[in-house]
Amino acid sequence: MRKKIVAGNWKMNLTLEEAKTLHKDINEALTTTNSKCDVYHFAPSIYLNSLIGNDQVVKTGAQNGYPAKNGAFTGEVSMQQLSGIGTQAVLIGHSERRQIFNESASFLKEKVDSALEEDLKIFFCCGESLEQRESGKFKETVIAQLKNSLFHLNSTDFSKIIIAYEPIWAIGTGKTASPEQANQMHKSIREAIAHAYTQEIAEKTSILYGGSCKPSNADELLNQPDIDGGLIGGASLKASDFLEIISTYN
Ligand code: G3P
Repeated sequence: MRKKIVAGNWKMNLTLEEAKTLHKDINEALTTTNSKCDVYHFAPSIYLNSLIGNDQVVKTGAQNGYPAKNGAFTGEVSMQQLSGIGTQAVLIGHSERRQIFNESASFLKEKVDSALEEDLKIFFCCGESLEQRESGKFKETVIAQLKNSLFHLNSTDFSKIIIAYEPIWAIGTGKTASPEQANQMHKSIREAIAHAYTQEIAEKTSILYGGSCKPSNADELLNQPDIDGGLIGGASLKASDFLEIISTYN
C-alpha cells in the first residue's frame, strides 16, 4: 500500500508569525486525530529554523535548494545547509522554478543528486502547459521531464523519490484537472516508471496531484486509484482548508 501524503507549498507567502501559527495549528490538530497520511509544510527557507522541531507531526521541507555544497552563489541556500538544520524534504522542478527562474532539466538533475547525498526526501514536480495539454503533447512532455532529471538514478535512489504531477494550467487558476484527467496522467507516469525500472518500484512510488486542489474537490481527486496525495498551494495557507483536505484520507 502506497503511503498517502498531503503537502502544503506555501510559496512566497505568510509572515514568520503567521507561518509559526499555521504550523502549530496543523500540528496540534493532527496530534488529536489519527490521520493516515504523512503531512508536510514546504516553507520559505528563512522560516525553517523556527518551524523545525522534534515533537512535530508535520514534516518540514524547503521549496528550493542549490546543488553545490558551498561557494560563491550569492543568495542561494545549499541542500547541505538545509539538511544541516534538520530540513526533511525539498521540492525540485516546480513549474515556477522552471519558468520564472529558468531551471533546466540538467540543473534539476544536479539538484536531485545533491538532495539524495543529503538524505533529503525529494518531491519532484512535473507538469505540462495549457498549450501542451491542448495539443495532446502533455504525456510526452511530462515523461520527458522524468527521463531528463530522474531516470538516471539507480533503483535504490529512485525508490526515495516522490513525484508531484502539477498541470501548469491548473496551478493557482481555480481550473482543476478533472479526476479522470489527473488519474490518467498519474497512470501514465506509473507506466513510465515501470518501463524505466520495475513494476514493483512503480507500484511503490507515491504520485501526488497539485493544481487548484481545494476542500470542495479533494475527496474525488485524491481518492483516484493512481493518486496518492496532494501538493497544495493556496488551500494550504488556511488551517481549516488544509485540514479538510488532509481529512480526505481519514
Ligand atoms: O505546489 C503546489 C502548487 O503549485 C499548487 O498551487 O494554489 O493551485 O493549489 P494551487
